[in-house]
Amino acid sequence: MRHLVTLSDVSAAEIRRIFSIADDLKSKFAHGLREPLLPGRVLALLFEKQSLRTRVSFEAGMVHLGGSSIMLGEDAGFGKRESVADFARVLSEMVDVIVVRARKHATVEEFAKHAACCVINGLTDLAHPCQALADLFTLQEHFGELAGLRLAWVGDGNNVARSLVKGCGHLGVELIVCTPKGYELDANFVKQARREFPKLELTTTHDPVAAVRDASAVYTDVWASMGQESERDQRKRDFADFQVNEKLMAEAGDDAVFLHCLPAHRGEEVTDEVIDSPRSVVIAQAANRMHVQKGILVWLLAATA
Ligand code: CP
Ligand code: NVA
Repeated sequence: MRHLVTLSDVSAAEIRRIFSIADDLKSKFAHGLREPLLPGRVLALLFEKQSLRTRVSFEAGMVHLGGSSIMLGEDAGFGKRESVADFARVLSEMVDVIVVRARKHATVEEFAKHAACCVINGLTDLAHPCQALADLFTLQEHFGELAGLRLAWVGDGNNVARSLVKGCGHLGVELIVCTPKGYELDANFVKQARREFPKLELTTTHDPVAAVRDASAVYTDVWASMGQESERDQRKRDFADFQVNEKLMAEAGDDAVFLHCLPAHRGEEVTDEVIDSPRSVVIAQAANRMHVQKGILVWLLAATA
């Protein structure tokens, strides 16, 4: 049984396969063609946190592929009526694939351990693998190839940043992670990532100007992720010098694009001028979530067949 809990669950060749399926389905979609590659298949979505992009991209994608989906909200009683293991054992007898968005990463790991069908991580406190895949797909689409690209992350060393480390490690993209002091990527995580990806080109810094110099893309995310709302005021102070604004973008390469996983807190981590500028590819990046989810679903279900 294959799962996608983190990007350690896939190889570089499998990511390329996912991108190739996504690319093919995206161009067919643009021509009005929706190839029913997963007829009769059922996807369940189990979300402990809010979502627009992840939920809708999976649901719409599943419909395009000829399958269907079931959104399980509060009334399913996940985490309240029965154990995570029992929930996973039962639900996975009835559906083919389950996307779980959980407050704690350990919940998705526990869920996958007991599920009899494929489980996909739809975001946890530690990882957002589907997001990082869509981000790298977007860069590949924009620049034609990933080799030689330099991606600058300016912000929190959070779930999205961690998944980008692994994605870049797989695909050979240079990554600079720039955070305020105290918000760095977890040191043990970095140590393990360097072991897992011996060729990983990862630099960490606290200097945003140095980070974005010669970057092909500048990426930021909210300063306080879901679940960290009570830290928002403190974080606003700690991240004040890490805003992606026109002055910072001027330090990046002339062709550099701006990325954000969204939702954005405009006026905090990014200004309107940057996110609405011609350099910003955030809407294409969000739209690619759907094309890449389709690639993930088709690949994962074929890999498990
Ligand atoms: N980027 C992302 O995962 O968005 P949602 O939280 O809306 O799913
Ligand atoms: N880091 C953000 C990403 C949202 C898609 C969060 O976890 O809330």
